[in-house]
Amino acid sequence: MKGLILCGGKGTRLRPLTYTRSKPLLPIANKPIVEYVLRHIHQAGITDIGIVINPTIEEEFKNYFQSHPQVRAGQIHITLIMQEKPLGLAHAVKTAQPFLGGDDFLLYLGDNILEQGPAEAVAEFKRQQLDALIFLKEVPEPQAFGVAVLDEQAKVVQVIEKPQQPPSHTVLVGVYLFSAKIFEAIDSLKPSWRGEYEITDAIQHLIDRQAKVQGKVLAGWWLDTGKKDDILSANSTVLDAFAVQDIRGEVDKQSKISGRVAIGAGSVIINSTIRGPAVIGEQVRIENSFIGPYTSIGDKSQIFDSGIEHAVILNGVYVQAISRLEDSLIGEDTRVVKSQNKQLTLRLMIGDSATVEI
Ligand code: TTP
Repeated sequence: MKGLILCGGKGTRLRPLTYTRSKPLLPIANKPIVEYVLRHIHQAGITDIGIVINPTIEEEFKNYFQSHPQVRAGQIHITLIMQEKPLGLAHAVKTAQPFLGGDDFLLYLGDNILEQGPAEAVAEFKRQQLDALIFLKEVPEPQAFGVAVLDEQAKVVQVIEKPQQPPSHTVLVGVYLFSAKIFEAIDSLKPSWRGEYEITDAIQHLIDRQAKVQGKVLAGWWLDTGKKDDILSANSTVLDAFAVQDIRGEVDKQSKISGRVAIGAGSVIINSTIRGPAVIGEQVRIENSFIGPYTSIGDKSQIFDSGIEHAVILNGVYVQAISRLEDSLIGEDTRVVKSQNKQLTLRLMIGDSATVEI
């Protein structure tokens, strides 16, 4: 069995961050989202993994995997697959057909994080010789997702993309197992109303032809990191689940570290309080500040005289004299500083599609 991770979208909902980086390489608890995906695929015993990308992120992915420890050690083998245009998930899968050949495969959206890995489902898929196994989750508002209807044996009888009147609350979470039969279904597709080749339409095609399509409702959490608030809540959930106390940097006597806080090598904490769960990267400097729970701070950032809580701060960020910075997602090499002038004048230099709440 092979693995296929889809990373080729536009990430419009996360602009401006996605102008300069791919969404699956954004950090959650200081680790790129795609790392959580790779870990699950590897845990399921899959080592041959294709990644669908687009031309704007090719360089970024090549660089990323060049220095990737598991790739360098030969534990996983990565093939980058170019999708020239983001014409939908089914189109992305079709683009990967030469890589997948006739093999079964585990398809994982590159912006999804699950609590539990798919290893058990992979075994079930093989044992039952299924054509598709779809990971599902019950949600209160299914309208924004692909929705599935199951029978009593968890056989999938219908799937619909973003229905106005959902027939159930069971939605597709972005992880699937397929046999090569999916390509016959994809080949018969026409673009949907939104102009995309939908994977849900391909699955419906399999169902209509009496293929063996089974659903598996997940017990643990599922995080889709499409928007800013999703990134923040994914960061909180992952810190809650996995943060550990691991202090490698220097903490002076005036500082207080409480709860599960990781501080990377070369970081210096002076006269500050850090309350976990939180993760601080390497070579970070924090002085006279408060870092509250559910915060991740990237490498080489500097925080002075500030309070930060429930935030994702990327590498090389400089924050000074900001008393409360909360619910924020701050891109690399950014400066957030209090102006010296006494009038309430704002002086801003902000990239396209940014959001500033004052
Ligand atoms: P989406 O979140 O549906 O799309 P997107 O990433 O382009 O984001 P937005 O809606 O904000 O513009 O995509 C889910 C995942 O699938 C994501 O990791 C990108 C990937 N993908 C492809 O690889 N090819 C595609 O054609 C599409 C639509 C998505």
